Amino acid sequence: MKIIKHDLPQFDTLEIYPLADVHIGDPLHDKKRAKQFINEVLEKENRYVIVNGDIINNAVKHGVSDVYAEELTPNQQIEETVNLLNPIKDRILVITEGNHENRTYKQDGILIMYQVAQRLGIFDCYSEGAYLLFVKFGKSQGRDCRKMPYAIYGKHGSGGGRKVGAKAIRLFEMAEVIDADIFIHSHTHVPMVLRKTFFRVDYRNEKATQIEQIFINTNGFLNFGGYGEEKGFAPTSTKYPKIILNGIEREVKALI
Ligand SMILES: [Fe+2]
Repeated sequence: MKIIKHDLPQFDTLEIYPLADVHIGDPLHDKKRAKQFINEVLEKENRYVIVNGDIINNAVKHGVSDVYAEELTPNQQIEETVNLLNPIKDRILVITEGNHENRTYKQDGILIMYQVAQRLGIFDCYSEGAYLLFVKFGKSQGRDCRKMPYAIYGKHGSGGGRKVGAKAIRLFEMAEVIDADIFIHSHTHVPMVLRKTFFRVDYRNEKATQIEQIFINTNGFLNFGGYGEEKGFAPTSTKYPKIILNGIEREVKALI
């Protein structure tokens, strides 16, 4: 996993919007929702973004998507991605690949989001795969008045199965890899927010502290129809989840 650190301003709250499965180029791509997402981020200065893969559809000859139905060529999709992300490039905390971008890597060894990150001038925020993101911001109430730190573990992800329960298990399994405040999984297009709590042993003070974790599954930006309908998949909501972190006292919230 790649470790990426951000020291952000003294906001009271930090709002993080994960962006994934936009599938630019797919005839069902919801352009209106994608634009709404960007505009909403720009409305407030404490809103930041995690770019979590499958931003382009990338129907290539050797992939499973329908090359003939595609609205844009892969190159035009990259252009569209740069245009979409350019207004929020200073708000991007991490940018990673999805399996659709990876089709080009598998066949030709070219990493698509690597190129996009370079063009946006945010290569420090690039992760080819899973990432551990540290953000600190605000001002804690402690004596030292340090910024409040949070850890986010994310990746585009894969699999998930047909049932919502199977997708939720996939998401929850991320906590078997690492300890973090927030876990982000994409790929399955079912927006989901789950909360888990457990007790962490504090050896120094010989007590147990209750810990809260949030698990986010991101939405897709695809309208219903096409391949999904043919295969018998249910429509999925294009409403996007957002994470709200408190910069004064430790608190993680998320909503859809
Ligand atoms: Fe995906």
